[in-house]
Amino acid sequence: MTKDFWKQLPRPIIGLAPMDGYSDSAFRRVCKQVNPAIVTVTEFTSADGLHFSTTALMRKLAFHASEQPVIAQIFGKRVETFITATKVCEDMGFSGIDINMGCPAKKVVRSEHGVALRKNRDLACQLIEAVATNTRLPVSVKTRLGWTSGDDLVDFGVAVQNAGADMICIHARTYQEPYKVAPQYDRVYALKKAITIPVIGNGGIESLAQGHAYCGDLDGFYIGQASFGNPWVFAGEKPQRFRDRIPIIDQHAQYLFEAKGGYVGSREIRKHLLAYVKGIPGARSFKAALSQVESLSDIQTALRQIAETEDYYETHSTL
Ligand SMILES: Cc1cc2nc3c(=O)[nH]c(=O)nc-3n(C[C@H](O)[C@H](O)[C@H](O)COP(=O)(O)O)c2cc1C
Repeated sequence: MTKDFWKQLPRPIIGLAPMDGYSDSAFRRVCKQVNPAIVTVTEFTSADGLHFSTTALMRKLAFHASEQPVIAQIFGKRVETFITATKVCEDMGFSGIDINMGCPAKKVVRSEHGVALRKNRDLACQLIEAVATNTRLPVSVKTRLGWTSGDDLVDFGVAVQNAGADMICIHARTYQEPYKVAPQYDRVYALKKAITIPVIGNGGIESLAQGHAYCGDLDGFYIGQASFGNPWVFAGEKPQRFRDRIPIIDQHAQYLFEAKGGYVGSREIRKHLLAYVKGIPGARSFKAALSQVESLSDIQTALRQIAETEDYYETHSTL
């Protein structure tokens, strides 16, 4: 992969946003299956972890060739561990390195990682420069509008570009209002006008059509939470009937079991299953079963029963 990867991708660039606990290899694979043109990003991974406990973290970062181009996202604050982490990710075959400068989690901010780097621009730029000069891969930064406002976004974006980043993704909310408020894209448009590296928008996008509407003047957009239980968000259309969604859900479970084994896989798939059945008539009564699945056959049985319940509701609503 070359440094101009982000410049060369067809527009608009559409991606699955990095999400800890969600955007693992299994979920990235099903999203790619739904829309092979998307870019995906790993869950954020500690640069210190990759430096000090390389093997364990490499296991967490492992991906399948069908996910490419997949970008590894790292977080931290130490130049030397960022350099090791970058080399590990490059050797693993990732298509790019993304630096997390947006995570608002208390533990992360307390350690001066994630969005805390917005308060330490010198260090933020040193990290970008260290990563960019130690890899042939494209380097991107994902951040927020700012701490309490987007007042310094353009200055920060210019500094990020000058430090050697090849793309910047902006989650159009601040640190102080992390997820629930409406995104403010005006600030992101102003940044796009001020820099020459690609700018990707993110935040509050619930469909491809909305992504095109919000980010038409940008280089693309990432979708996050709207993909929970809904990888079809990347296809533009969701199969009408639950029965027709089952093959992808089954596939998701299989990939997860394959990657993490039955014990962890069965526990991690539960939250996804609950998201997949949200809004399906009659599915409420299967919540307990879905929250306790232990095997692929438990999952298949529950999904089949939910499809039969949906059929029943449909037949009876037309009588
Ligand atoms: C559960 C969860 C985990 C997240 N983990 C990460 C992460 O690891 N790295 C990151 O850059 N952003 C992370 N984010 C932020 C998302 O990438 C995205 O910026 C945010 O959810 C806004 O996009 P959305 O409104 O489409 O969800 C996470 C968000 C959620 C909800």
